[in-house]
Amino acid sequence: MPADYFRRAEKSEIFTKDQPLEVDLGCGDGSFLLGMAEHHPERNFLGVERLLGRVKKVCKRAKRGQLDNLKVLRLESRYTVEWLLGPGSVSRLHLLCPDPWPKARHHRRRLIQQEFLEAVHEVLEPGGEFLFKTDHDEYFEWAEEKVADFGRFESLEWPEEAFFYPKTDFQIQWEAEGKRLQGLRLRKSQASPT
Ligand SMILES: C[S@@+](CC[C@H](N)C(=O)[O-])C[C@H]1O[C@@H](n2cnc3c(N)ncnc32)[C@H](O)[C@@H]1O
Repeated sequence: MPADYFRRAEKSEIFTKDQPLEVDLGCGDGSFLLGMAEHHPERNFLGVERLLGRVKKVCKRAKRGQLDNLKVLRLESRYTVEWLLGPGSVSRLHLLCPDPWPKARHHRRRLIQQEFLEAVHEVLEPGGEFLFKTDHDEYFEWAEEKVADFGRFESLEWPEEAFFYPKTDFQIQWEAEGKRLQGLRLRKSQASPT
């Protein structure tokens, strides 16, 4: 939990070791996060998850693996990005298989909205990346439209072999059901002020 909900957290308050920070919003059972933290001891990983059972599970697995570069924050994703993380403090932000809220009357609950993109852009360091994956074609198109309207990210190619990127629990489950995931890899310009 944050030391104070009403001010932005300094990067050094989250991890004492000064390394690039990656954030996984809605980390679930944490397979992706644990895989990343193990593979990249030179980076710090913060999972954000609202369900306590899942938070505990990931923390237990991180402890067992002696991963001191991984922490999980039990908090709401949007609040974390819009109000808690400091400007320019995040090198990569991952949003993997979020709830697509398929019904039209629930679309306003989708995380990807203009205010959210604005906040993501602000917390990323110059050259930092926002990575998004979904199995839901309509949510993917929605995200593409919102990103185009926002207009301040550069869209990059994201072939599977581009870099180490473990599959998430939901990705494994959905691919086993024959579903196809689509991804967006978006970069904040190097020249952007934070
Ligand atoms: C569909 S699961 C995907 C989990 C993981 N990213 C994966 O791909 O395996 C969505 C996760 O996000 C969490 N979640 C949903 N909305 C959230 C929110 N607003 N803030 C924090 N966590 C949230 C859920 O509890 C769940 O664990």
